[in-house]
Amino acid sequence: MPPYSEQTYTPPATMPSYLIRHASLRQLQVFEAIVRLGSFTRAADELFVTQSTVSMQTKKLADALGVPLFENIGRQVRPTEAGAALYQSCRAIFEILANVEMTVADLKGIKRGRLRLGVITTAKYFAPEVLGEFSKLYPGIEVALKVSNRDRIIERINANEDDLYIMGQAPSDQFSVEARAFAPNPLVVLAPRDHPLVGKRNIPLARIAEEPIILREPGSGTRDMVLSVFEHAGQRPKVRMELGSNEAIKHAVVGGLGLSVLSLHTLTLEGTEGPLAILDVQGFPIMREWYLVYPKGKELSRVAQAFLDFALTITPSMRERMNLLWPNLARYFSAKDKVSVKKRRKKS
Ligand code: PGA
Repeated sequence: MPPYSEQTYTPPATMPSYLIRHASLRQLQVFEAIVRLGSFTRAADELFVTQSTVSMQTKKLADALGVPLFENIGRQVRPTEAGAALYQSCRAIFEILANVEMTVADLKGIKRGRLRLGVITTAKYFAPEVLGEFSKLYPGIEVALKVSNRDRIIERINANEDDLYIMGQAPSDQFSVEARAFAPNPLVVLAPRDHPLVGKRNIPLARIAEEPIILREPGSGTRDMVLSVFEHAGQRPKVRMELGSNEAIKHAVVGGLGLSVLSLHTLTLEGTEGPLAILDVQGFPIMREWYLVYPKGKELSRVAQAFLDFALTITPSMRERMNLLWPNLARYFSAKDKVSVKKRRKKS
């Protein structure tokens, strides 16, 4: 096939060069969601971003076009005439782009296939949604999800049972593995809403060690982390109970049986203002990460590679999701980022 430049190819009559330079697909996506859902708040929820991000993106888009895109009628937000026209164009653009994605997926030969994913217990709070998003891109792919605790996942890696794994810590001490961080996994101290420590600032870990603690079962990654934090601080937790499920632990905490340390993801459905309160304890939240793990040297199937590539693109929305769940977290992200920037500077 001759290169496109040598064919009798006519370039498009007009190129929207001003828009190309000043507007972005992300802005169009935000704008489309606001019009479709009739609300800035619902658009922010759907896209896992904050309301201020939504307002900022919309303002940039309106500035790029030089016209207002929304008008307020009473308490309702409606598109202006220009906004309504843009909305129709957005839908056409997204339809074309979705077809491009499908064509590319076909060309890559991953229209059909199977993905076996082994995830550690706590990852069940987000892995099904991530798979849902992935399946929208690759509807023909069959997905098998196995949820187990850390010890079982390590056995599964050993037996090569799945294509990829999601874990809170790579088992680098036992295998040679590739581990790619892709999402935050903060661990927080949970108490029942009416506990006397709720609302206290900067509680020392020694004070938490005086309270009964509910621990995950042996073999859990969360448990290992909690025990090592107490050990490093020279404290011994007063373990009242061990339970093999995050949900059972949450109920036990609400029932007044003790405090616990769990991943913030466990509050995904009820939020942080519900019956469980997050305590402000020194050294917490413990900012862990979720990793995509597979044995070093393992040749990933095309489907597994596609999932890995996809999962690595969702880091910003996973962060945003955690920030929305618990806005206090933002300062820990920025503190951590500052540290890693400093470290990088020192290295270079
Ligand atoms: P777990 O592991 O669900 O087995 O506790 C989670 C983690 O390691 O963070």
